[in-house]
Amino acid sequence: MAQMHHACVLDPKCVQKLVLSSHEAKKFAYCPYSHFPVGAAVLTRDGKIFSGCNVENACYPLGICAERTAIQKAVSEGYKEFRAIAIASDLQDDFISPCGACRQVMREFGTNWDVYMTKPDGTYLLRTVQELLPASFGPKDLQKIK
Ligand code: THU
Repeated sequence: MAQMHHACVLDPKCVQKLVLSSHEAKKFAYCPYSHFPVGAAVLTRDGKIFSGCNVENACYPLGICAERTAIQKAVSEGYKEFRAIAIASDLQDDFISPCGACRQVMREFGTNWDVYMTKPDGTYLLRTVQELLPASFGPKDLQKIK
């Protein structure tokens, strides 16, 4: 049977703090080309929060999303086990949804953790990495070659 993944239950205070951190991080977005600010905040297994924003570039393809900024900040400080990530944008009527590249980068660090896709009013849609990127390719697949 396929392995099931469930969103882990985070204390509501903890969720609120993570969501707020993603909205705070959005204020630092460097997005002079898209004018589309995004913030993200990742919660490590041991309760630390790393936040990030999108950082664009005059050479357009070099721009990086908020989610990857946050994850790379965490990993580069020695944290690679995550409970959740919250994402924030200025879209009033839509829950911000992570791009495919960011889903793959999340997946690198496991499929069984939570993605809070938020609106500016703090409401959110909750999905696991597994739900956002089913049938994914990951680190273990590289070890299957004979
Ligand atoms: N962006 C993110 O940072 N995260 C998302 O989830 C969606 C898109 C950024 C990339 C680019 O700087 C701008 O938003 C417009 O695509």
